Amino acid sequence: MSARYAFLVCLGAVALLGGAASPPPLDNGLARTPPMGWNSWNHFGCDVSAQLIRETADAIVASGMRDAGYQYIVIDDCWQVARDRSGRIVADSARFPGGMKPLADYVHSKRLKFGLYTDAGRQTCQGRPGTYGSEEVDARTYAEWGVDYVKEDWCHAEGLDAPAQYAKFRDALAKAGRPIVFSICEWGSNHPWAWGPHTGNLWRTTGDIGDRWASMIGIVDLSSQYALVAGPGGWNDPDMLEVGNGGMTDDEYRAHFSLWAIMAAPLMAGNDVRTMSATTRDILVNKEVIAVDQDSLGAPGMLVQTPVPDLQVWAKPLADSGRAVVLFNRSALQTVITVSWRALGIRGPARVRDLWNHTDLGTSTGRFSAPVPAHGAVMVRISP
Ligand code: GLA
Repeated sequence: MSARYAFLVCLGAVALLGGAASPPPLDNGLARTPPMGWNSWNHFGCDVSAQLIRETADAIVASGMRDAGYQYIVIDDCWQVARDRSGRIVADSARFPGGMKPLADYVHSKRLKFGLYTDAGRQTCQGRPGTYGSEEVDARTYAEWGVDYVKEDWCHAEGLDAPAQYAKFRDALAKAGRPIVFSICEWGSNHPWAWGPHTGNLWRTTGDIGDRWASMIGIVDLSSQYALVAGPGGWNDPDMLEVGNGGMTDDEYRAHFSLWAIMAAPLMAGNDVRTMSATTRDILVNKEVIAVDQDSLGAPGMLVQTPVPDLQVWAKPLADSGRAVVLFNRSALQTVITVSWRALGIRGPARVRDLWNHTDLGTSTGRFSAPVPAHGAVMVRISP
């Protein structure tokens, strides 16, 4: 880490946390790198079923996504319909015949992990039963079913205190005795960057992503402000990926994926992996870009240069003392963008490798420039 970056990290952490001593980060041993997987919501909404989940698990294996690191298969809203007389949550028996346990077993048999969605309030966003008042029984039920990841939303939570409600579920999960990644989804409305690190493994920083360029870059601008609080065990979550859902061009999706990786964001695919095109697959399984996201240093990248409005340079320090760099062109014209070694805190010659074309670009000194497509990104690894 460069001295400048380390200084900014300290300064930012103090500013974001208000200078007060904060409780130690959650240490449940999970999410040492940003979680990777798939979630049903962005593509399927409420149209979830056991069959979809089984076919998705199969496709994640067959496409090479599992081998690229995608692990958690998460069913979002609408799997639950009621509580039984003992207060236990009940899955939709028409869509999930046999319930969740056999489905979790199937997912595990593929060497994948299984996740579910709930809501900290009285109901989920789609009006299904929420966890409020049932934290312990829900955490126990999920542990019995073999759940490895829980996303907890924030609908129908009027009058509730977000840090307290999420802490309640964190404690219930710990008591249930199964390692379960805890994904906080309260959209950034109660400053989760301040209490998320001691409460969950990831916390949404913004409202929902849409499958549109303007939505994606709006989220980047908001979420990246909180970069300094994230690290191994606790990550800012700028929401799930839209790659392959059809609302952006392939260049825009490559930029989306590059930016999520440079921010060290969770990489939760949100497309139909059973029918994706070869181009979508190649974006999602780009191992060199994924390696930046999953780098063991766990330092989220930041915006380091804005040569002119709409042209940006993002950089992320890596464990091997290299830097990942995204040259990000937000404009509608192809343009050359330059990153200077000064902005990266490095000196002398450095090797440059293109992470989308998988080619070595030789050694540069002082700066590196490349043409960047309109609404697109070039991503390189710079090794001093
Ligand atoms: C909220 C969340 C989304 C999704 C939906 C489901 O909008 O932010 O990610 O979980 O609810 O209803």
